[in-house]
Amino acid sequence: MRARYESREEQRRGLKKSTTGAEQRDDDQSRAALLGSKGVRGQLGSIVRSSATSSTVVRIHNSLVIDSPKELERLVHEELNKGVVGLNNYSGKFGKYGGKYVPETLISCLGKLEAEFYSAVRDPEFQTPLYYAERLTNHYKNENGEGPELYLKREDLNHGGAHKINNAIAQAMLAKRMGRTSIVAATGAGQHGVATAAACAKLALDCTIFMGTQDMQKQPFNVSQMKLLGAQVESVEGSFKDATSEAIRRWVGSLDTSYYLSGTVVGPHPSPSMVREFQSVIGKETRRQAMEKWGGKPDVLVACVGSGFGLDSGKHSATLARGDVGVYHGTMSYLLQDEEGQILWPHSIGVGLEYPAVGPELSFLKDTKRAEFYSVTDQEAIEAYLRLCRLEGIIPAMEASHALAILEKLCPGLPNGAKVVVNVSGRGDKDAEMVINRSNQAPMASTVTN
Ligand SMILES: Cc1ncc(COP(=O)(O)O)c(C=O)c1O
Repeated sequence: MRARYESREEQRRGLKKSTTGAEQRDDDQSRAALLGSKGVRGQLGSIVRSSATSSTVVRIHNSLVIDSPKELERLVHEELNKGVVGLNNYSGKFGKYGGKYVPETLISCLGKLEAEFYSAVRDPEFQTPLYYAERLTNHYKNENGEGPELYLKREDLNHGGAHKINNAIAQAMLAKRMGRTSIVAATGAGQHGVATAAACAKLALDCTIFMGTQDMQKQPFNVSQMKLLGAQVESVEGSFKDATSEAIRRWVGSLDTSYYLSGTVVGPHPSPSMVREFQSVIGKETRRQAMEKWGGKPDVLVACVGSGFGLDSGKHSATLARGDVGVYHGTMSYLLQDEEGQILWPHSIGVGLEYPAVGPELSFLKDTKRAEFYSVTDQEAIEAYLRLCRLEGIIPAMEASHALAILEKLCPGLPNGAKVVVNVSGRGDKDAEMVINRSNQAPMASTVTN
């Protein structure tokens, strides 16, 4: 069903012409019918993702229902030409300032640019790009010019600089829906803290973030961001695991008013299930984008989960490689522990990976052998960080650099043309100083310099 406003006056009054020409009011009921009962409101109010069908449904001014991105593009252009879409009414002026004082020959070109811009900012999918990393691909080609094709899922381009916002905004909305007024959370690298603080600011929720003293020293930039976003940052002696214990303690002390917002698949059910659901957007998008780009699924997906200085050094967070099954923070998973079940101190240069346990699903995938787990060292992760900077102009988070590091071992064994997607879970500004210091101390021999 599609209907469109015939005039500005009808638009203002919420009246529209149906395809049969009859006049009808655009009320909540008809909207619900259009969207299906499971439709959820997207970020801009005009954009709606229907979880029932996983197709994208878009509304503009509550009047247009468009069921494909191509159709949207066509209609936005049409609407722009007619001057119906609100943004087009904006002349680009602030009072008398601004405007388009250019030669006649530029007008048409600027008009096209303007239409494209407004169409892009209304992109129905809000998806992060699946980016073909051409120079990285070339880097891994053998002497016959053969090798896998490498793609990056650009979660670093999300608001807040990481995938964390996908989950934080959704859980904060859930807390609000449950009538909770304050959010408590723990953060390691600070990315989840920043995402949670941003979501709380937007939704007018009190926000307290617990963070280990060691991590606060390592990631001061994210501490400042959390504070700017209005969060109270509480330091906890230790690292992420200690901050998590403290956040859970605070939540348990005020169950009726507070909400513990987990940033990763830890803690008792339903926390891991919720995080899994809200982050599954990354996988769903990747699959759809792969189908669009090469008409098939990726052959290999790579993401970061744990890491370490070196497995035999005992300084690592390689929970799946070296852990045993146990219960921690209310859930059963693989766990770094000694013979008496005491938790072992984890280590990772990617602060967001420094946790002694791992999610239940990954534990299960290890047992059922549906996923393979590799370990990389701190040094290999730093080299991968620099490699992406220099080959693609992208600064990856140190956590994501662990996923990138394994390409060194993975790529030579893959068939020519195999499609590999690496999840760049966040951006690496927060790690820049540490990387520079470390590479000054020990120059990276194997990192590309061109
Ligand atoms: C950039 C980045 N990538 C990955 C992770 C780990 O993500 P997850 O806990 O969702 O597995 C973190 C956690 O802080 C992070 O900051």
